[in-house]
Amino acid sequence: MSNVAGSPLDTFLAELERLRSDAATALAAATDDAAVEAARIEFAGARSGRLKAVQKALGGIPVADKPAAGRHFNDTKAAVAALLEAAQARLGGSGGPEPGDAVDVTLPGDAIPLGHVHPITQTIRQVQEIMGQLGFESVDGPEVEDQWHNFEALAISPEHPARDPLDNFYLAVARAADPLLLRSQTSTVQIRVMESREPPLRIVSLGRVYRPDTADATHYPMFHQVEGLLVEPGTTMAHLKSVLRLFASRFLGGDVHVRFRPSFFPFTEPSVEVDMEWGGRWIEMGGAGMVDPAVLAAVGYDPDAVTGFAFGLGVERIAARRYGVEDIRDFYKNDVRFLRQF
Ligand code: FA5
Repeated sequence: MSNVAGSPLDTFLAELERLRSDAATALAAATDDAAVEAARIEFAGARSGRLKAVQKALGGIPVADKPAAGRHFNDTKAAVAALLEAAQARLGGSGGPEPGDAVDVTLPGDAIPLGHVHPITQTIRQVQEIMGQLGFESVDGPEVEDQWHNFEALAISPEHPARDPLDNFYLAVARAADPLLLRSQTSTVQIRVMESREPPLRIVSLGRVYRPDTADATHYPMFHQVEGLLVEPGTTMAHLKSVLRLFASRFLGGDVHVRFRPSFFPFTEPSVEVDMEWGGRWIEMGGAGMVDPAVLAAVGYDPDAVTGFAFGLGVERIAARRYGVEDIRDFYKNDVRFLRQF
């Protein structure tokens, strides 16, 4: 505070006037919110603003002059506040909540979107439901497997190309004599179930399998299979075809024709590729066959006394067929515009 004028009151009032005029000049020149805020701190700042400094000088005013000094101080404080408010309004900055900003607590809250089950999970549940009605119990198996369940018990010999490290995801932690791998097929579950139970058996197992395949419209490195296994006396290929046809007709709707093409799998004999005709097109859905006697022997069954069939279908393929999806990669892009359609 300067000391040019005579009495302490005069000095005090002169300082108030200078403060008011400096604040008016600064706020008139302010062109953005940051400048208004800087002026607010300089003039009205709670700790070291100029108003605060002048207020402290009130203590040095003679008692008789104190009421007048206090009144002028309050006027100047109000004037600075009005100048700040005008500047904030002019620049559109928020000088506190606007009337329209008020929260109306009586309004209903914003709805939280709940999402829904992924189409592949929906497909898995539908397959389980249909196969359940045909008497097939749903079972699970591990995704990390050993050589025995993924290959050996399924009569896939050590030199078979299906065991090639380039065709499988072997686990780096398991470079042992018996390396573990991410299962490449759900046929592993056939073995696990037969090892632990006696016939008759009707099981279905749906889950993820992994192969280092390049992704394209019909392939993905992680996909799902549905494995079916029936072991009962007197089972034939005719039963296999009937079950697949009943399943396909229920799943796809209408009377779906099933075609077998001769094929080879080490764990079935005879083996077939399963095609389904739907909408005028034949599509390969998976593989199937009669459980090979070598597999029955590997799990401790008597191959002369027991017969059964097994099949393995690609879940993404049957889902794509049913929903008219042209490219199975769409299932895994997580594009909600695609997923919302199911
Ligand atoms: C098998 O995996 C056999 N385990 C099937 C089987 C089971 C035969 C029981 C006999 C008895 P395959 O490799 O052909 O077979 O695969 C079966 C199906 O999985 C294919 O027809 C296809 O529908 C699906 N599939 C295979 N590779 C992929 C992939 N990379 N992406 C998506 N689907 C695939």
